[in-house]
Amino acid sequence: MTRVLEVSGLEGGYDKVQIMNGLDLYVDEGEFVTVIGPNGCGKSTFIKIIFGIATYYRGSVKHKGHEVSGWRTDALVNRGIAYVPQVDNVFPSLSVRENLEMGGIHLPTPILEDRIDRSLEMFEDLRPRMNDVAASLSGGQRQMLAISRALINDPEFLLLDEPTAALSPLYQQQIIERIDALRGKGITVLIVEQNARLSLSRSDRGYIFSNGKVVHTAPASEILVDPQINEYFLGTKKD
Ligand SMILES: Nc1ncnc2c1ncn2[C@@H]1O[C@H](COP(=O)(O)OP(=O)(O)OP(=O)(O)O)[C@@H](O)[C@H]1O
Ligand SMILES: [Mg+2]
Repeated sequence: MTRVLEVSGLEGGYDKVQIMNGLDLYVDEGEFVTVIGPNGCGKSTFIKIIFGIATYYRGSVKHKGHEVSGWRTDALVNRGIAYVPQVDNVFPSLSVRENLEMGGIHLPTPILEDRIDRSLEMFEDLRPRMNDVAASLSGGQRQMLAISRALINDPEFLLLDEPTAALSPLYQQQIIERIDALRGKGITVLIVEQNARLSLSRSDRGYIFSNGKVVHTAPASEILVDPQINEYFLGTKKD
């Protein structure tokens, strides 16, 4: 089993503002792993440090056994890592097609066309909207576009930051199902999700962050029935 991501003792933040305080986490090949935690605990910052967008201080980040801590984003993309940000993840004034092309701007045209076609296999709803500007899409379709764009580089490891935020329950369900289906295409998934119950129900394992650290980790099936976690993170609603 390949360990796709192995993080230990990670510290970092924004310039001199420290947010991550020694975080340990791993993701194995083929897994779907969910990170949950209160607002402001550092979930987005964690992903941004991994992806070379926020500031790395110290600790180890390994991708498939190679030390990649503090690496630049483009080098991480070349290793097959992709990231879908929590906000501003599409260019609203560009068309759906142009957004997808931006995802693979360095690729030769025939390969780019093929990648666009393949990334849309998961999100057929976007095909009839190719020439429409992204601003005209529904919230759910925009998330689908953001994920499709991340797929253009044919990643093996996808980092997703709250892909269902502010979507209707139907779209939330659809997006999580499709992300889960990416595993069938050989993609390993690490997701930060507010809709914890929905995401955990598709996950192998979960991590709970607080104050820039992991405070609990367990198989998703255990987290879903843990009474204390239910009270704090999953609401009292039983499906
Ligand atoms: N660009 C920035 N510069 C300085 N501090 C920041 C910046 N962005 C976020 N922070 C701070 O970092 C801390 C962690 O924020 P982060 O966005 O990682 O939290 P989060 O767990 O993703 O929260 P949410 O659930 O609201 O998305 C917060 O205190 C936030 O105010
Ligand atoms: Mg966040």
